[in-house]
Amino acid sequence: MEAGARIAQLREELHAHNHRYYVMAEPVISDREFDALLDELAKLEEAHPEFADPTSPTKRVGGDLTDKFEKVAHKSPMLSLSNSYNAEEVAQWAERVQAGLPDEEVEFVVELKYDGVAISVWYEDQAMVKALTRGDGTTGEDVRANVATIKTLPLRLNPGAPNPLEIRGEIFFPWPGFEALNESRREAGEPEFANPRNTAAGTLKLQDSAVVATRPLDCMVYNIDAETMTAMGIASHSEAVREAAKWGFKTPQGRSLEVVTSVEAIMDAVAHWEEARHDLDFAIDGLVIKVNRYDHQKRLGMTAKSPRWALAYKFETERVSTTLKGVKYQVGRTGAVTPVADLEPVLLGGTTVKNASLHNADQMAKLDLREGDAVLVEKGGEIIPKIVGVDRNASSAGDLFSQAIAFPGTCPECDTPLIRKEGEAQHYCPNSATCPAQVRGRINHFISRKAMNVDGLGKETVTQLVEAGLIRDVADLYRLTAEELLPLERMAQKSVDNLLHGLETSKSVPFERVLFGLGIRHVGETVAKNLAKSLKSMDAFKSVSVEDLMALEEIGPIVAESVASHFQDATFLAVVQRLQEAGLQMEVVLEEPLGTALEGEVVVVSGVFETMSRDEAKAAVTNHGGRLVGSISSKTTLVLAGDKMGPSKLQKAEKLGIPLMDEAAFLTRIGGQ
Ligand code: IVH
Repeated sequence: MEAGARIAQLREELHAHNHRYYVMAEPVISDREFDALLDELAKLEEAHPEFADPTSPTKRVGGDLTDKFEKVAHKSPMLSLSNSYNAEEVAQWAERVQAGLPDEEVEFVVELKYDGVAISVWYEDQAMVKALTRGDGTTGEDVRANVATIKTLPLRLNPGAPNPLEIRGEIFFPWPGFEALNESRREAGEPEFANPRNTAAGTLKLQDSAVVATRPLDCMVYNIDAETMTAMGIASHSEAVREAAKWGFKTPQGRSLEVVTSVEAIMDAVAHWEEARHDLDFAIDGLVIKVNRYDHQKRLGMTAKSPRWALAYKFETERVSTTLKGVKYQVGRTGAVTPVADLEPVLLGGTTVKNASLHNADQMAKLDLREGDAVLVEKGGEIIPKIVGVDRNASSAGDLFSQAIAFPGTCPECDTPLIRKEGEAQHYCPNSATCPAQVRGRINHFISRKAMNVDGLGKETVTQLVEAGLIRDVADLYRLTAEELLPLERMAQKSVDNLLHGLETSKSVPFERVLFGLGIRHVGETVAKNLAKSLKSMDAFKSVSVEDLMALEEIGPIVAESVASHFQDATFLAVVQRLQEAGLQMEVVLEEPLGTALEGEVVVVSGVFETMSRDEAKAAVTNHGGRLVGSISSKTTLVLAGDKMGPSKLQKAEKLGIPLMDEAAFLTRIGGQ
């Protein structure tokens, strides 16, 4: 088939699969098959730039950079909605609507009020051409490059869609993706995002659409241009929304698009969603009630700010009053100090709340908190409850002698004076070397599931080991002995065995996870993976410059600076060196083994070699199907013995009858196939 025709065919197929997967959640091919098609298309497009198309499914992965978003006037103003908070206000609005439409039977549609960012998307000849933010309501910014990465919004419409077309909807960040993003930020030592709405808004304004593509934003379409619809013979909002689903949009359905004719029925829907909203996997902040028929909407018209035919019903933010017992300060592994309110336990939104985040010193000062204050706690769009104010009437604040709780000047863990970097809201403990909280934090991060995944070692044990002076850094873990561990409290022979075995097993964890485990600031799981893939070995990191790093794909200046400065730090390098000596994976192992010459072998690599470094020797073992272990045991089947292999290892191998293989024999064995 000719390239142009194949490109067109692939695009059409991929558009259809995308829609089935993301909008209908009914994929008909596997992810692997999908990726293969996408890959084929990307390669063809690269080879044939003459067929470039901004609506190609390959554009979903981002890559376009925007310096400055173009300002574009809206086709019609993007209005807001007037709010209501109770049945009475809804009834009053319904009466006004009825008064404006005498003798008419009025239909209402009850929809969810998605808690995100409004967007206006323009299509011409079925292709997405613009995506405008609300801006000041009259003029918005064209963030199309970023919006194009949202998989639930079509880049190209299905046949039958009107041309041109403008739709409006809400871009939001569903909880699962939001929580995953925060988890990875936590792991990378970066501040977490407060709520999905602001994060969605911030994401749409990012200049690098490739970063946007990594964030699973979603888009629900809730408005289709009424004039276009009327011209097509579609008479109501609910019909239009159902039509729009056929053109490829994700639209509300079922109870999220309920047509009713009375205030009672509206309030039934409110009662339903007050509860059911907790089962949604995205945030809503209320409901929107709309007059259904377009001719009715037109007759009602709008005020300067909002249409008379629609009303927002806002859910009450759940808020309770409780007593502030005090403020605790948590020191993270990067030294960031976070104040946390210690509260008299109170029930809020179905869970017992004992703590609330206070974010930073400025936030605390603003609240002017005093011990024993009656504080108001809210659970809004956030996961972690927050203190929104102090009930002065019920508080000790009336007491002239009470003192505002002051942010500490020194680290609560090690007493080192805290610092605050210019332009940052966080305070830091600069004593990264010996501050116990930071030491524990680094070790806990290193042993965590996504890093070294050390079985048999948990946070309490880490605390115990740090307090006993047995470990000061992550490399100390690999020097622990049964003799040291056994005398500790709660350490029976079995737990000691488990711990040591867990550490031994962790030595075969792939290099990218070792790198991640080192806890370099801004190096989360994904960045670690990318860096490992590009640089291939720990040795390469030691001589890499900021410029080298920035030349890599997906590595920006912040990550580059952070990585380079860690690998210039003597303490950090010494830890890496000792980990290397302990036998951790310090090189990338190819996914597809180069061969199978060592399949079934359990190999210990020891000593120094002539034609390869020890890390290279280890990589060669794994690349040829062998399994590496750190020390000789009865399970070992082969010892790759270089020069200067320690006498004790030699003895042990001999005693257990394990064959030794020298460098030359090893090379013949792996090369001879
Ligand atoms: S209709 C003329 N429907 O709420 C107003 N808006 O406070 C057209 N929103 O800016 C908006 N869900 O961002 C409409 N189902 C829904 C909505 C919704 C969320 C947002 C929208 C708007 C804001 C108004």
